[in-house]
Amino acid sequence: MATNDNKFQAIVSHCKEYGFIFQSSEIYDGLAAVYDYGQWGSELKKNIRDYWWKSMTQMHENIVGIDAAIFMHPTTWKASGHVDNFSDPMIDNKDSNKRYRVDHLIEAHADILEKEGKKAEADALLATMEALLGKDDLAGLKTLIEDNKIKCTVSGTSNWTDVRQFNLMFSTQLGSVADEASEIYLRPETAQGIFVNFLNVQKTGRMKIPFGIAQIGKAFRNEIVARQFVFRMREFEQMEMQFFIRPGTEDQWYEYWKAERLKWHLSLGISPERYRYHDHVKLAHYAKAACDIEYEFPIGFKEVEGIHSRGDFDLTQHQTYSKKKMQYFDAEINQNYVPYVIETSIGLDRTVLLILSEAYVEEDLSTPEKQDSRVVLKFPPKLAPIKLAILPLTKKDGLPEIGRQIMNDCKSSFYCFYEEKDAIGKRYRRMDAIGTPFCVTVDHQTKEDNTVTIRYRDTMQQERIPINKILEIVQKQII
Ligand code: GAP
Repeated sequence: MATNDNKFQAIVSHCKEYGFIFQSSEIYDGLAAVYDYGQWGSELKKNIRDYWWKSMTQMHENIVGIDAAIFMHPTTWKASGHVDNFSDPMIDNKDSNKRYRVDHLIEAHADILEKEGKKAEADALLATMEALLGKDDLAGLKTLIEDNKIKCTVSGTSNWTDVRQFNLMFSTQLGSVADEASEIYLRPETAQGIFVNFLNVQKTGRMKIPFGIAQIGKAFRNEIVARQFVFRMREFEQMEMQFFIRPGTEDQWYEYWKAERLKWHLSLGISPERYRYHDHVKLAHYAKAACDIEYEFPIGFKEVEGIHSRGDFDLTQHQTYSKKKMQYFDAEINQNYVPYVIETSIGLDRTVLLILSEAYVEEDLSTPEKQDSRVVLKFPPKLAPIKLAILPLTKKDGLPEIGRQIMNDCKSSFYCFYEEKDAIGKRYRRMDAIGTPFCVTVDHQTKEDNTVTIRYRDTMQQERIPINKILEIVQKQII
């Protein structure tokens, strides 16, 4: 049975072995912190994406979705503050040349202190770090590292450079002639595509405040310390929603969206103990208040979603830089104003990892007679890549034909998978490992009475049901 420490590694290996997630460009030894989704990973990711999209747009009459371009006018990023402020403090060890994000280095040291039973010392260290980060006190951070004799894990020395800020945006050239080309950025968040379209959507959709604009798309960050699988990537996907409100109502809407987003997580059947809120002490340059929804991954409690009260920062900045009015006329109070914004921002890849962490179970099925075990992914059925596997017991006697007919009847309603190779027990285990909630087996009795065996993934219980009930049984579970 995997312990919590190696469960993470087990999930990474399982993802590769069963076609969920591969290292990008693996045949060239991979590209650090970039990943490709395989056949089942991309299906799982799509299901999570669709679930978020539906719950945000279709289920909220006052939220609409857009799909803005990744490339944006370079002034966007000057106005948004990302050119000047989107950076992390880093420090290099002069002996190993290894670069660390300062907060990660200090947090790792605090973990060691805690494991040594020095919890009070660890807490004090983290509190000092948060305070110094909040003041952008780079010299103070270096002193903190030196005073605590924090060492590089490679060289084992404390020979550090000064702490410096590194901007996380990737830049590239737009235009074909090198000296005429202008430098543009790959967007580091999807949110700005929503802000610059605020008036387009408000006017064409005749939207009345309060209303939201949702978007799902790729974002890019040159994460200096990128590790932990799809938790921290250089190219990733965000699902963001900007909720435009009347100034003065921000505290109430901030609390509303904090609660509403946690409810969304719990609607996936995940236990509330696995979640906690973490209020930010150091706020991003745009935020007036910010809080993370953290999930207990096998690597500990980590941020999966951020709720940010952004005030009128972004719209006002775009108004200043573009010289276009970003105002809304509120007929109820007969006033023009720049709306305030509450943002909900969740990482799709981190949510994939969350769902995998929650679903991954190693079960000991041994009996006194026989040692046995299985790895099963207990996905909520609505998120499972394959909903139904159709497995004829043998390749002859007309059983494959019946199986194919079931496949044809069901495949337009949900994702089905047909397989006739290998012993039935082996096929069940493969479907468990991919997380398929239902398997139906076509056997010789099927020919006599039009019934099949349906096997439930989580309980491994089997029951006999008429063929014409399959669609209804599966559909009921996947809404
Ligand atoms: N628009 C606000 C914003 O981008 P953020 O807290 O920087 O806020 C939001 O990012 C979410 O995006 C995070 O909670 C996380 O789930 C995801 N995310 C951020 N950086 C990531 C990375 N390097 N790899 C994977 N997901 C990331």
